[in-house]
Amino acid sequence: MKNIAVAGTGYVGLSTGTCFADMGNRVTLLDISEEKIAMLERGESPIYEPGLNEMIRRNVKAGRLHFTTDYAEALADAEFVFICVGTPSGVDGEADLQYVRMAAQSIADHMHKPLIVVNKSTVPVGTGDWVADIISGRLEEPMEFNVVSCPEFTREGSAIYDFMNPDRVVLGSRNHVAAEKVAQLHLPLRARIVMTDLRTAEMIKYASNAFLATKISFINEIAAICEKLGADVEEVAVGMGMDKRIGPMFLNAGLGYGGSCFPKDVKALEHMAIEQGDHPALLSAVIDVNQHARRWAIDNLTELLDGDLAGKRIGVMGLAFKPNTDDIRESPALEIAQLLQKVGALVSGYDPVAMANVARTNPDLRLVEDPYELAENVDALLVCTEWNEFKQLDLPRLKACMAQPIIADGRNIYQPGLMQELGFVYRAVGRGETFAVEPGFAFA
Ligand code: UGA
Repeated sequence: MKNIAVAGTGYVGLSTGTCFADMGNRVTLLDISEEKIAMLERGESPIYEPGLNEMIRRNVKAGRLHFTTDYAEALADAEFVFICVGTPSGVDGEADLQYVRMAAQSIADHMHKPLIVVNKSTVPVGTGDWVADIISGRLEEPMEFNVVSCPEFTREGSAIYDFMNPDRVVLGSRNHVAAEKVAQLHLPLRARIVMTDLRTAEMIKYASNAFLATKISFINEIAAICEKLGADVEEVAVGMGMDKRIGPMFLNAGLGYGGSCFPKDVKALEHMAIEQGDHPALLSAVIDVNQHARRWAIDNLTELLDGDLAGKRIGVMGLAFKPNTDDIRESPALEIAQLLQKVGALVSGYDPVAMANVARTNPDLRLVEDPYELAENVDALLVCTEWNEFKQLDLPRLKACMAQPIIADGRNIYQPGLMQELGFVYRAVGRGETFAVEPGFAFA
């Protein structure tokens, strides 16, 4: 049992802290937001993450998980403090480090015994050294501390599973003993551990996210070529993925990547390279292709709806940036909904869990209670997020609700053959064809 403090109760901090508590440690979750801490104390999670609420309650009950807004309290007995605060995109894509700075300063102001400072936030290469400088420059009397970089590789929506079953744990530090101690914390996970220097660990994180984003943009570019040449990108991805050197994951063509990580991290890495006088052509192309992937929806809907979207009723299925989360940051769905509204389309939206967040950020978007209500009298439906709920819909019922049976499937969740049989005008990403409505079909 170790005493651990975790600064920041966003997706990363909450899942990290709760999982460490579940592994038997005593964890204090710290946030400067009184509102978030009050919610946690009431037994409510400020975010939607499958399984997290139950795990929080279980560990609070067992006396292993505590919450506070007070650094002095969190650091009183801590041997480790994890920095898990946000690093949003600043000007020019540069990561904004104001919250990391504030955390480092507060740690320096409140630590009173040796401490291992573990950085989990995604930060530009060199930030670990910068955090060490902030802390040592602010300490009133010399005290031993070490900074270890332990980047985050969990995905939203499967954060607990990913934390408990990591492909690897990366630890970077100038001090081998400190890194060993952080490795000990992870031993119950029986994961492979990679030990490096601080900057290399920070770079492993960026390079990993940038590579996954590259895979997505790559398959989206192939999808566009497939459409022109009449090939099926879904089969292409299966055929490619069987090659062990390529692997099957992250080859799902669609409307491009979103969320709080890939868009921000690829831009931040591009920015770091440019600042060093480099010309990161591949990273810039990944960003361009991703932007272009959103256009698929606009271009296809325009074509399917007689060249003009003004006044057309369009239902957007799925608003979260991906399934199993209520996170709408950089969500392709919302970006596309805004583009559609700009050209005069009448847009409605539905999402199984993200609607409360959307109501706050996009008050102009009409929200409805279920997929069938969304389909009511629309000229077209656009699938933006591949929620399981959408895969199991009663499609004839859905069609009967629509003014025109047009579906643009931006996540390739339906079978083109079946959609054709059911009489939909169906278009999917990288699958070549528009399936015409059977002759003689009358719109409901
Ligand atoms: C990503 C990484 O996968 C994690 O390893 C990392 O820890 C995390 O960022 C982070 O840096 O904190 P996350 O953003 O939660 O995780 O979600 P992903 O499942 O990676 O999906 C990111 C985006 O790519 C989503 O918009 C998703 O729809 C899209 N995507 C993913 C595709 O368009 N195609 C695919 O084949 C896979």
